[in-house]
Amino acid sequence: MKIKIANVVGARPNFMKIAPLVDEMRKHDEIEPLLVHTGQHYDQVMSKLFFDDLGLPKSDIYLGVGSGGHGSQTGKIMIEFERVIMDNKPDVVIVVGDVNSTIACGLVAVKMGIRLAHVEAGLRSYDRTMPEEINRVLTDQISDYLFTTERRAHHNLQLEGIDQEKIFFTGNVMIDSLLKHRERAEESRIMHELDVTPKHYGLVTLHRPSNVDNHENLTQILDALITVQEQLPLIFPVHPRTRKMLQQFDLEEKMQQASDLKLTDPLGYLDFLKLMAHAKLVLTDSGGIQEETTVLGVPCITMRENTERPITVEVGTNIVIGNSPACIVEESNRILAGHGKKGALPELWDGHAAERIVRILLEKENRH
Ligand code: UD1
Repeated sequence: MKIKIANVVGARPNFMKIAPLVDEMRKHDEIEPLLVHTGQHYDQVMSKLFFDDLGLPKSDIYLGVGSGGHGSQTGKIMIEFERVIMDNKPDVVIVVGDVNSTIACGLVAVKMGIRLAHVEAGLRSYDRTMPEEINRVLTDQISDYLFTTERRAHHNLQLEGIDQEKIFFTGNVMIDSLLKHRERAEESRIMHELDVTPKHYGLVTLHRPSNVDNHENLTQILDALITVQEQLPLIFPVHPRTRKMLQQFDLEEKMQQASDLKLTDPLGYLDFLKLMAHAKLVLTDSGGIQEETTVLGVPCITMRENTERPITVEVGTNIVIGNSPACIVEESNRILAGHGKKGALPELWDGHAAERIVRILLEKENRH
């Protein structure tokens, strides 16, 4: 009998984490992988492009839940995913990261007696005002397999009373994707299209509710970006949430006055990877980008009060500075003056995390 594994993706940061897992599972005849897309992110630029760039097979099941408040989005995913479990009866459900699809599908799986695996377990910002932190803590509490990306995660999980036997330090699947596609990304024409040259531009992303849903915070960050672009041209692919808030707060005109702050639509995986790899610096409030810049050796300024990924600060190229304009400008200037962190590769971020995870699942599931 084959081991049936349902792999869940929902939002943009999930696709590059699930792709190497599905790829690896397809090499094993004894596994039957199923790809379920909740449709939390549904745009061409937030979803479809990533399937193409990452070579992800078309999802077997698409739930099309779309946007909504936290309650209704999570609820809709749960209702739809329950049907998926009833129809397909998987042995294991795999969820990744910390989005609403992660906790929604995880909760349904365990309540229906299906074993749950959480990839990227144990990360903690210790900031419960972040919706993602709630998703992380709750998903870890109910998981049967917890696959971690850094050693600190193990300690965090122990503090929360998680049985050590369930925790496996396997490395970082998102870095599997990065290393696999790094060369192919070089073929992207994006730098030419945006008219930038290596190490002579900065790359910006911004979408955390705490930064973009608050008028004062968003204005402050934009002021800082406007100052930085006077020294270094900035490319800013704008997340749909941020685009909406820029319109709502009437800030679009302000941005247009800064001639070297170039706003674009969200970019595909390969274009974005190429831009990251050749940037002088990256300014972001994303989770995953802190890790990717560490592996690429590009200095990263994280515009948040905390990070759930401390290894990127301890070992990598990341600094976490909050969102005060003075700090953003000061740190950018330091990097421009040649004082950016060089960093090193974190342990097990070697392109083989998916292999380790699948090996463990095979070994354990064969005993059931
Ligand atoms: C979600 C995740 C966050 C992740 C981020 C990456 C949660 C709680 N948050 O935040 O952890 O870092 O994705 O992108 O799960 N929208 C579109 N097109 C899309 C997707 C969204 O226009 O394809 C719009 C929605 O209509 C909504 C806004 O963007 O107005 C926010 O989308 P939502 O999925 O609620 O959360 P994100 O901010 O993207």
